[in-house]
Amino acid sequence: MQLYNQAAVAFCVLQAVIVTPAIGSILKQHPLHPHATDKSPHIGLQQWVAAQDEYSQQHILANIAPFATDPQAMPGAICASPSRKHPDYYYSWTRDSALVMSEVINWLPSANLTFKRELEEKIEDYIGFTRHVQQLKELKYGLGEAKFHMDGKPFRGSWCNAQTDGPALRARTLMKYARILQNSGRQEQAGDLFYKVILNDLLYVQSVWMDPHNCDIWEESRGMHFYTLSAQQRALEEGAQIAEELDENWGFAETAQQISLRLTGFWDHRGGYIVTTRNHTGGIMSKASNLDSQVLLAILHHGSASQLSSQETLVTVSKLIKSFDRLYQVNQVQQTQINGHWVQLGVAMGRYPEDVYNGDGVSRGNPWSLITSSVAEYHYRLALELLTAAKSNQLAEFAGMMRWQHTWGLAEYLLAVGDRFMARVWLHTDNDHKMYEQWDRHTGFGRGAVHLTWSYTAHLAASRARNLLLKALSQ
Ligand SMILES: *[C@@H]1O[C@H](CO)[C@@H](O)[C@H](O)[C@H]1NC(C)=O
Ligand SMILES: *[C@@H]1O[C@H](CO)[C@@H](O)[C@H](O)[C@H]1NC(C)=O
Repeated sequence: MQLYNQAAVAFCVLQAVIVTPAIGSILKQHPLHPHATDKSPHIGLQQWVAAQDEYSQQHILANIAPFATDPQAMPGAICASPSRKHPDYYYSWTRDSALVMSEVINWLPSANLTFKRELEEKIEDYIGFTRHVQQLKELKYGLGEAKFHMDGKPFRGSWCNAQTDGPALRARTLMKYARILQNSGRQEQAGDLFYKVILNDLLYVQSVWMDPHNCDIWEESRGMHFYTLSAQQRALEEGAQIAEELDENWGFAETAQQISLRLTGFWDHRGGYIVTTRNHTGGIMSKASNLDSQVLLAILHHGSASQLSSQETLVTVSKLIKSFDRLYQVNQVQQTQINGHWVQLGVAMGRYPEDVYNGDGVSRGNPWSLITSSVAEYHYRLALELLTAAKSNQLAEFAGMMRWQHTWGLAEYLLAVGDRFMARVWLHTDNDHKMYEQWDRHTGFGRGAVHLTWSYTAHLAASRARNLLLKALSQ
């Protein structure tokens, strides 16, 4: 972590932004309403983001079958973190691996020939690893088994299983790759991938989505989860599309529709936000608020464009930000200098307010790097969505009551807010760019698993959204 000036605490001034009443009032309640002055993108932040991008790519690749330190690792196995004790994260989780590979696939279009070959090899290895674990006979929880040893052997210890989001995420990642194969004239390879690998995951998801005992993505709670159902819904929807093109029908579209209906039941009228778990059947009992950042992750990973900018999502994100703002001591600092650059800081974000996992044991929860990056990503993508909607007149509630330049003003505002969350990640990330799972809630230094692959992935996703937004704003 960088040194920061404890005395430099600034308070944000709420100011009026001319938008429609609904969104306007939500944004005015936004805990991070920025000053009008911080409109131009921050040069120091810009440089840090670019340097962090490069480091993050390298360390994602380093966590895929790290033969240098583990000759037994199976090609295509991706460790959640190289940390083998305090905590031991040296396993290939189906969920984390799918999210990481989905990110790696995003690098293909801009990769040079050498790099492209390297990436394609990693993706093929990942497909090989997937086929291997899909064929393991001795899996107690089937394809929903949460994690595997890095040498491809099943994990025999007790664990919060099954985690049925994993196969859905993996199917989505591989369908994205199948599309690339298809578009580059490799139809046969794409078909093989679909019938021999992806279809197993989709049929599994279709058969288990109603399981009321499945475990959430934080591996603590059993019931019906917003994140898990969102992943399953989207995977089956995409699967249905491919099935139709292949002139096949497994009923994926109908199941996706049923899941969509269930998802509408997560809006809590009393609390005024989207809750994370319904019909809780076991696991932790302490999450009284039922307010959890995994709802935001679900919308970023699996939601539609309209869901991204819906009022339900906006208020849920706003409530999440407020709940962590008060919770962690590091959030008392809202403005500081990093390596000579003056920055305003967003809120360091955690998983859920009642969290007690400290990265290696149980005491009190801390803010997480990947979640804070994801909140930055959310603001950038929301801005992009508003710009596109204004252009195509789709979101009349945004465009209708404002003149054109006010729409642009709103996007710039959201860029500034997103940048505050980026700056928060910058502040708590080591000067050498090393990322952790968490930051200590009091000191701000890295805690828990070092080189967490998902932390790098979440940073890159936020950075990509930011670049797209900067490009859109400069046109
Ligand atoms: C290709 O891209 C990789 C990764 O970005 C880079 O390290 C390498 O220098 C590039 N090679 C050439 C010939 O440009
Ligand atoms: C929870 O259980 C009720 C009663 O069985 C059911 O109607 C509802 O759809 C369930 N909710 C979810 C999200 O599965």
